[in-house]
Amino acid sequence: MGKSLNCLISAGPTREWIDPVRFISNPSSGKMGYALASEAHKRNFKVNLVSGPVLLPIEKGIDVTYVESAEEMSIAMMTQFNEADLIIMCAAVCDHKPKEMWGQKKKKADFPTSIEFVSTKDILYELGKRKKENQKLIGFAAETESCEQNAKKKLNLKNLDWIALNDVSIKDIGFESDLNEITLYSNSEQKVKLSIASKEKLAAQIFDIITK
Ligand code: PMT
Repeated sequence: MGKSLNCLISAGPTREWIDPVRFISNPSSGKMGYALASEAHKRNFKVNLVSGPVLLPIEKGIDVTYVESAEEMSIAMMTQFNEADLIIMCAAVCDHKPKEMWGQKKKKADFPTSIEFVSTKDILYELGKRKKENQKLIGFAAETESCEQNAKKKLNLKNLDWIALNDVSIKDIGFESDLNEITLYSNSEQKVKLSIASKEKLAAQIFDIITK
């Protein structure tokens, strides 16, 4: 019997804490990433899911590592990257975190009018640098303007095989919704437009294309 291939998928948001009761984050529900994990499992991949804080149940047979911050997600992805054949970065990683996290809850009267932020690590960029010939690396692009141009820029900069663009300025798709609409771009200039559909249906279509 052949050994099943390993698929490493990230899903959900990250949280970057300001103090013990406040954080910055984004509206990612994890639905898109979890649908991809479920589809990979159906196709007999051994699935490792790295999940930010979401409210979704985990399907039996999928291994999950729960993380909270971009830093924790980076460590989890890096640790499991070498064994993975197919890697899909669907998580909505915060690009910024507060420069310092206060150890105690900041009192209302002491709360500053501005907070200094620093960049988090670009996990996908780091994975792209480490990618080996036998690995396929897929990213997502959540855009609100110049979508195609920005997605292609990320595809090249992060050394991806495919990028899945969703225009998150369109109401009813993308973040939190059960629906999405995706255009896939490959590093060999292919472009495949997938019409609006459930995230489960899109996950199946994405797998058909990226595993061809
Ligand atoms: O979770 P849902 O509610 O179902 O919503 C799905 C989704 C909209 C979150 C998903 O479809 C999606 O678009 N995910 C990627 C969101 C994102 O962070 O996009 P980006 O264009 O900012 O980042 C580009 C790529 O780099 C992404 O693959 C991202 O995971 C990765 N990245 C970004 C920043 C960072 N510091 N490290 C990263 O690895």
